[in-house]
Amino acid sequence: KEQIEEVEKFTTDSKEAIEAFRIKYLGKKGLLNDFFAEFRNVPNAQKKEFGQTVNALKQVATEKVNALKEALENKHEEKGVYGDLTRPGEPIPLGARHPISIVKNQIIEIFSRIGFNVSEGPEIEDDWHNFTALNLPEYHPARDMQDTFFIQTDPDILLRTHTSSVQVRYMENNKPPIRTISPGRVYRNEAISARSHCFFHQVEGLYIDKDVSFADLKQTLQFFTTELFGKSKIRLRPSYFPFTEPSAEVDVYWGLETETDYRMTKGTGWLEIMGCGMVDPNVLDNCGIDSKEYSGFAFGMGIDRIALLLYQISDIRLLSENDIRFLEQFKSAL
Ligand code: PHE
Repeated sequence: KEQIEEVEKFTTDSKEAIEAFRIKYLGKKGLLNDFFAEFRNVPNAQKKEFGQTVNALKQVATEKVNALKEALENKHEEKGVYGDLTRPGEPIPLGARHPISIVKNQIIEIFSRIGFNVSEGPEIEDDWHNFTALNLPEYHPARDMQDTFFIQTDPDILLRTHTSSVQVRYMENNKPPIRTISPGRVYRNEAISARSHCFFHQVEGLYIDKDVSFADLKQTLQFFTTELFGKSKIRLRPSYFPFTEPSAEVDVYWGLETETDYRMTKGTGWLEIMGCGMVDPNVLDNCGIDSKEYSGFAFGMGIDRIALLLYQISDIRLLSENDIRFLEQFKSAL
């Protein structure tokens, strides 16, 4: 009976101590077997009580060993030592696409439906592809339109200021008809603020074939803005770019009579979204395309600006700060 009490009190969390305890009571040479061997020497009058007590001891000791082993396993499992293979796995957190990527992919998808492919080029460019081929010879005042980052002291090597450079490369390497858009990062030496950054992202487009007209350009842009913004109005304002003639600035109207209004919380009105024009014949000739045979149009837009508009983001810097609280908000937009 004392042994029963002792067994009930016993506790440990060591594997070795449990095994020693088991051997002590339940092992071949353990106490219980001793007691069973003792049984025949017990006077008949006490046999019943002795037998019941020994059986009770055996039960208590067996239960104790099982309970201690189970407790130990649970503890290890919690620590992941054994690892229960039947347990459901840890959920893998899903990331979100960056708003720039979301908008870029939308733009690519829209133009792919009307036959435009995607072309890419280097961010570190030479003067020819970024400026000279585009009708901006050295000392041309229009170079001041784009404040350029040069690489070290070599004025020939720079960070591209627009992806028009990719269009030059594409024209040099492909024959018309050409229908291509060039998404990519561009750099300009501008003060960083809520509205502008020293790098941003563009999609520029180029269409060259026989008899391409300004009407084709306008129709293409109207199709594009309707697909991206919903039913929308655009207007073209005369402008100047060295590589297009005539040139225009494209505004989209944010207002109640168009579908763009639900996204527009602050005011309505015309918002500039891109530049465009008919490719200057000099540019075609510079790139090995006969300007007497072919004509074309080009356009270029900033993805960041459009992302700010579509998602009503107030500060362009949020797009490059990698704040997870900001980025996580785009999970549903995958
Ligand atoms: N390259 C111009 C820019 O970066 C945009 C543009 C492209 C304008 C094509 C007209 C035609 O501002």
